[in-house]
Amino acid sequence: MAADMNKCSPAPPPADIAAHDRSAVASAIKPNMKKQQHEEEGDEEWLRYLEPSKLEVFDQLEPWAEANVLPLLKPVEAAWQPSDMLPDPAMLGADGFHAACSELRARASGIPDAHLVCLVGNMVTEEALPTYQSIPNRFEGVRDLTGDSATAWARWIRGWSAEENRHGDVLNRYLFLSGRVDMRRVEGTVHRLIQSGMVMNAARSPYHGFIYVAFQERATSISHGNTARLAGEHGDAALARVCGAIASDEKRHEAAYTRVVGKLFEVDPDGAVRALAYMMRRRITMPASLMDDGCHAPSGDLFAEYAAVAQQAGVYRASDYRGIVEHLIKQWRVEELGDGLSGEGRRAQEYVCMQRGFSSGAASYRSRIYRTFVVYDSECTTCCM
Ligand SMILES: [Fe+2]
Ligand SMILES: [Fe+2]
Repeated sequence: MAADMNKCSPAPPPADIAAHDRSAVASAIKPNMKKQQHEEEGDEEWLRYLEPSKLEVFDQLEPWAEANVLPLLKPVEAAWQPSDMLPDPAMLGADGFHAACSELRARASGIPDAHLVCLVGNMVTEEALPTYQSIPNRFEGVRDLTGDSATAWARWIRGWSAEENRHGDVLNRYLFLSGRVDMRRVEGTVHRLIQSGMVMNAARSPYHGFIYVAFQERATSISHGNTARLAGEHGDAALARVCGAIASDEKRHEAAYTRVVGKLFEVDPDGAVRALAYMMRRRITMPASLMDDGCHAPSGDLFAEYAAVAQQAGVYRASDYRGIVEHLIKQWRVEELGDGLSGEGRRAQEYVCMQRGFSSGAASYRSRIYRTFVVYDSECTTCCM
């Protein structure tokens, strides 16, 4: 039975899958009551953004999106692919491939456990892309209604997803080749995360949604960028290149979404600032907050541990959250909004501007998460629960 297993031992072999899955699947697919409750709070406020007068804005902005957002995607011919970054047996031949893999493993051995755990967390997050492609496809007024819609919004969604798809692929391949992580447990964690979905406020409102993704793209750019820098400092140039390429993509995506929200601030400042205040009040939940390795829950919280390790390692800190809020407020010139704001809009503006300088502390504790994913030479004897 799964409950009797040493939960920090290597992931179960295929023969154990059926027994393991009976309890795991049951808990993973049960309705997320917390989220359901969450969606009901404040509904009337964001549901107003689904009225035709608000959604028409996106029809009117489509030519603008064609000219200003779509060019931020890279043509396939100019885009990097995972094969450009890591040893390719077809190109190197057997001997060359083995030599390149040995070198990769030697370099990877210098990456500290904390950074490796952050990398796993980033990889798990990226690999849950099916969940993220459905984010903008929930936004009324911009979603891809047919699956191959020719609108600028729909083409952006598909093009953005295609670029994102390389991120999980390349990180997965690096971690596999590094030989330093329990890939089966990592893969199970990805599996569970996609099953669980994600928590997001006002999920169908394009105003709130674009604010969310603008924030997230900047957060991921910071996280991958810091990982690249730290990998370089520890002598792993290949990993630095991988994470640097991802960070650069995230930066372009951030530019696109920040531009969309900037346009909303231009054409509907009252609606935009109220949506921003709504999102700030509830804080931006990270997309992988439901991450579950199958042995932390219900008494532990894997994502909280990942966040604490990222804080300690300098990969993504509480101060980064604050920095993103400050950056976006500045980008969207929230303080300068004047004419055209309703009373509610002015209160929202005040609230948002008050968020500057807000700081949240992150827990500092030695994490069991190392034992969950990192493969050590010696056998793990301490259970993670
Ligand atoms: Fe990404
Ligand atoms: Fe991105």
